[in-house]
Amino acid sequence: MGEGFKDTPQRGGHGQAGHVPVLLKEAIDFLNIRRGGTYVDATVGLGGHSYEIAKRLGAQGRLIGVDKDVSALERARERLVAGHRSSVVGRDSEEMLTAGDESADWPSVELVHGSFADLANDQGPRTKDGFDGILADLGVSSLQLDDPARGFSFQAEGPLDMRMNTQSGETAEQVVNRLDEVTLANLIYEFGEERRSRRIARAIVRSRPIRSTAQFAAVVSAAARPMNQAERRIHPATRTFQALRIFVNRELDDLRDLLKTAPQLIKPGGRLVVISFHSLEDRIVKDAMRAGAKQGMYQLLTKKPATASAEEIDRNPRARSAKLRAAEKL
Ligand SMILES: C[S@@+](CC[C@H](N)C(=O)[O-])C[C@H]1O[C@@H](n2cnc3c(N)ncnc32)[C@H](O)[C@@H]1O
Repeated sequence: MGEGFKDTPQRGGHGQAGHVPVLLKEAIDFLNIRRGGTYVDATVGLGGHSYEIAKRLGAQGRLIGVDKDVSALERARERLVAGHRSSVVGRDSEEMLTAGDESADWPSVELVHGSFADLANDQGPRTKDGFDGILADLGVSSLQLDDPARGFSFQAEGPLDMRMNTQSGETAEQVVNRLDEVTLANLIYEFGEERRSRRIARAIVRSRPIRSTAQFAAVVSAAARPMNQAERRIHPATRTFQALRIFVNRELDDLRDLLKTAPQLIKPGGRLVVISFHSLEDRIVKDAMRAGAKQGMYQLLTKKPATASAEEIDRNPRARSAKLRAAEKL
């Protein structure tokens, strides 16, 4: 890989404060970016990884950034499109942007609103021979976590929303007030790996209606008091918030769909790189890549997942749980 990271601004190229991309160097190394190639950033977020991909693609290259979240796409557009020659593609409408200051070596950038699970759909971005690489950096961005109005955080008072795509689907509030106790317990157990799921579900049902993140966090915390020192290290509502977020956004189903279609979307020699943040996701990625390797579709590039260095974790605590797995399409 030719380019270093030292001069890469955390604030992007356009004076914009950004989400700190996790395992950035590792992701770019494993993507093995080919100048002039076509790459998909399936979770473009604030464009941190995408910016580094775009820098290496050159004017003949093409970058497709996908996100469920329109506010993330707006931020990615500022970073990746403003001042560059690009197009912005919506699900319903198509809009071409021509920038005043064309940077000669910048690739074309398309930003697509939707789920990466739909990449293989008819309306999805097309290539003649397949993509040179797909990157997925799963989960939520700091833009989503840090805005109380989005309802992802138990640390701040806000509406209990948790939708990455605020334009469709049920909110977390609708889910916690609609589901029966057993279904709630099962989803908290399955997606939160929370042993006290039954007690928590009972407390939720008794406290309905639940309207805000703070109210939800208080109900869950009262039902799931820490039992030992290890449990005291994380907020008692952490696992239940994770479970609800995964359910509301169909996170694991979308991930399975992406992994199922990836071998058809990537051209031979192209790369699939996935960064996950909890064991449920990592297991799905590991199993799909291993199954693909057994069927002769992939060569595994990571026998064990790549993880963040102590220095990166120090700079960005979110990197602590990140696991990166990569495979090459055969
Ligand atoms: C961890 S952030 C990505 C950050 C990005 N790599 C960066 O450097 O700025 C994850 C992003 O993926 C988006 N996302 C999560 N699941 C998605 C899905 N199934 N389809 C499309 N976007 C998704 C979220 O809305 C969020 O913006």
